Amino acid sequence: MPNTKASFSAKDFGDDFLWGVAIAAAQNEGAHDTYGKGPSIWDVYSKKARKIKSGHTPYESCDFYHRYKNDLLLTKALGFSVFRFSISWPRILPDGVGRINKEGIHFYHRVIDECLKLGLVPFVTLYHWDLPAALEKEGGWSAHLMLKWFSRFVTICAEEFGHKVKNWIVLNEPFGFTSLGYMLGKHAPGKIGMRNFLPAIHHAALAQAEGGRILRKLVPQAYIGTTFSCSEVVPFSNNEEDIKAAQRVDILLNRLFIEPTLGYGYPRDDFKFLDKLEMYNKAWKHRERMRFDFDYIGVQNYFPIVVKHNPLIPVVMASDVKATKRNVPHTSMGWEINGDSFYRILKKFSAYRGVKEIIVTENGAAFKDQLVDGEVDDQKRIDYFHGYLAALLRAKNEGMNIKGYFAWTLTDNFEWAEGYHARFGLIHVDFKTQLRTIKNSGYWFRDLLTSR
Ligand code: GAL
Repeated sequence: MPNTKASFSAKDFGDDFLWGVAIAAAQNEGAHDTYGKGPSIWDVYSKKARKIKSGHTPYESCDFYHRYKNDLLLTKALGFSVFRFSISWPRILPDGVGRINKEGIHFYHRVIDECLKLGLVPFVTLYHWDLPAALEKEGGWSAHLMLKWFSRFVTICAEEFGHKVKNWIVLNEPFGFTSLGYMLGKHAPGKIGMRNFLPAIHHAALAQAEGGRILRKLVPQAYIGTTFSCSEVVPFSNNEEDIKAAQRVDILLNRLFIEPTLGYGYPRDDFKFLDKLEMYNKAWKHRERMRFDFDYIGVQNYFPIVVKHNPLIPVVMASDVKATKRNVPHTSMGWEINGDSFYRILKKFSAYRGVKEIIVTENGAAFKDQLVDGEVDDQKRIDYFHGYLAALLRAKNEGMNIKGYFAWTLTDNFEWAEGYHARFGLIHVDFKTQLRTIKNSGYWFRDLLTSR
């Protein structure tokens, strides 16, 4: 049992504050080739590329597909009131376009109905990185047709679920999936180079706004957001070159997607390289189309980064100085733990004119958890959440319009290129038996949230 009591109570965040947990289809569902589902780029990538640690695949994962009732009950038992999950595009449209898989539609109806029965508010993410493999064959996010494909998928979801689901997230971290998947080749589909990256950025920026417009049109009283990965970028030293390097990285990591969304266009005045983005895509013509008036912005922050000038790295000419080398507290992903930096990120995003409300749609930490005698004593994770939530409360008390906080994540799950090695859950999963054990951090949340 956790012995650290929080220095705040859930009441301090206000009665209408949204407390949630977040999961994603490709990371949790399993059932990857059954009930009519088509393959996603992650199914293909994990099999072919062997780029995932230990050759892990998302095929079974924590089997949310069959265990959703149990997992929703656990969510409720821990005191959360919001459940964020994503809809698997290839479960709805096995070929990405064309034929609809009725079983997929029914599955999400069951999940939504169960949420509503338990009094959990569903927040639905439309794209959390599991593109249908069939569409990747046609170029995926680098293809112009993406806008058409994505619009159809969004339309189907809005028409099917819009009478039950009011809270929507269009994209999960566009910078995450375009950079890791289409430039660095570290995530599915494993592509590299500017030739893939630049069009992928632009199509994601357009799809994000277009998705918002479709939801606005089809779902009465919808509350529509989209999420951005963000990290405070700190120069390694005060020298001019490091400062400039930090500015370039900040533009890519934190500004590249939110600024066109808010109607400012790409932040290219500050980073001439982004002119290429405009020329390549004739993006200046699309300024209005990249804009959408989101009801809220989903901020997803885990760690800050420290960067220094590095002429050997193309374009950004910068590299990060790892937390492990800097001797600062970090998680098992090597990510720096720093609540103050989270506070500054919230401040940075709240300061944008046009950002009406913020929800922290993901935040959490992976540690090397041990299940001993039926208990997972994850004090480090409790300390992490405590520090980050204290920072959020400070931001909120200073007047920033932060409406909610969703912990990443409910159960241990498939952590992309890390496979099952990185455990982020509030609930431990034995991947052989699928046995769930609430970690002490899960009990910590329960104590915090049920004292409301
Ligand atoms: C986010 C991503 C999640 C999860 C988390 C922890 O970037 O949206 O799916 O994996 O990171 O790494």
